[in-house]
Amino acid sequence: MIKIVDLHKSFNGKEVLRGISLEIRDGETLVILGMSGTGKSVLLKHIMRLFKPDKGEIYIDGREITSLPRKEIYKIRKSFGYVFQEPALFDSLTIYENVAMPLVEHGFSKNEIREKVKWSLEMVDLLGVEDKFPEELSGGMRKRVGVARAIVQMPRYLIYDEPTTGLDPVTADRINELMIFLNEKLKITSIVVTHDIRSALKIADRLVLMHEGQIVVDTPVDRAWEEEHPVLREFLKTVGK
Ligand SMILES: Nc1ncnc2c1ncn2[C@@H]1O[C@H](COP(=O)(O)OP(=O)(O)O)[C@@H](O)[C@H]1O
Ligand SMILES: [Mg+2]
Repeated sequence: MIKIVDLHKSFNGKEVLRGISLEIRDGETLVILGMSGTGKSVLLKHIMRLFKPDKGEIYIDGREITSLPRKEIYKIRKSFGYVFQEPALFDSLTIYENVAMPLVEHGFSKNEIREKVKWSLEMVDLLGVEDKFPEELSGGMRKRVGVARAIVQMPRYLIYDEPTTGLDPVTADRINELMIFLNEKLKITSIVVTHDIRSALKIADRLVLMHEGQIVVDTPVDRAWEEEHPVLREFLKTVGK
């Protein structure tokens, strides 16, 4: 479980996180919805301790991480798989090598690596592309390679930052299906940041609306339509019901 208590963060005198408190339960898919620039990515980077807050606490499985020494932070980071907005694949490496990258850094044997990479690519339905290079794949396939790389170490938490942004609706929906599949199959806790309300409604167990550095709505997804916050209403209006 992840527990965030009264998190504050400013950059250059501008307060970006203004007292975020949030619990993320084991096994759930939590979607953090919000407009651009509202602090979603900054919040994710705090959870992985890439940023240190000005104030507040973050507990990962009961352990407070904001004041841990660097060595301990590296250990904590292994509990996370992170799917970037841009897949950030290495163009000069094959798909196999891209997915294997996090393992190579941790000294697994060649056989172990081969098995884990095969398993990851199977999970994202991409077996058979091992020897290709990123530029030979479509945008949606590259995204799935990014997911394969994120799960190759069997993390407890899978974090996606804008996983469907920039994809056509059909490809976006395949990514939605993949997120649902992995959450169910691996019993992994998923944290998804997005401004894609369609994706949010499809994949979320629980929906949180972030606005101007605060959490202004926190609801089971099937009750989202009962919420009255004007920003959530705006999002929902674009879907219609
Ligand atoms: N490393 C940084 N240094 C200074 N300002 C930052 C940094 N990262 C993010 N910000 C600012 O924080 C605000 C929120 O950014 P972000 O979390 O990326 O928004 P989004 O909700 O679109 O993900 C923006 O105004 C952004 O400019
Ligand atoms: Mg962002």
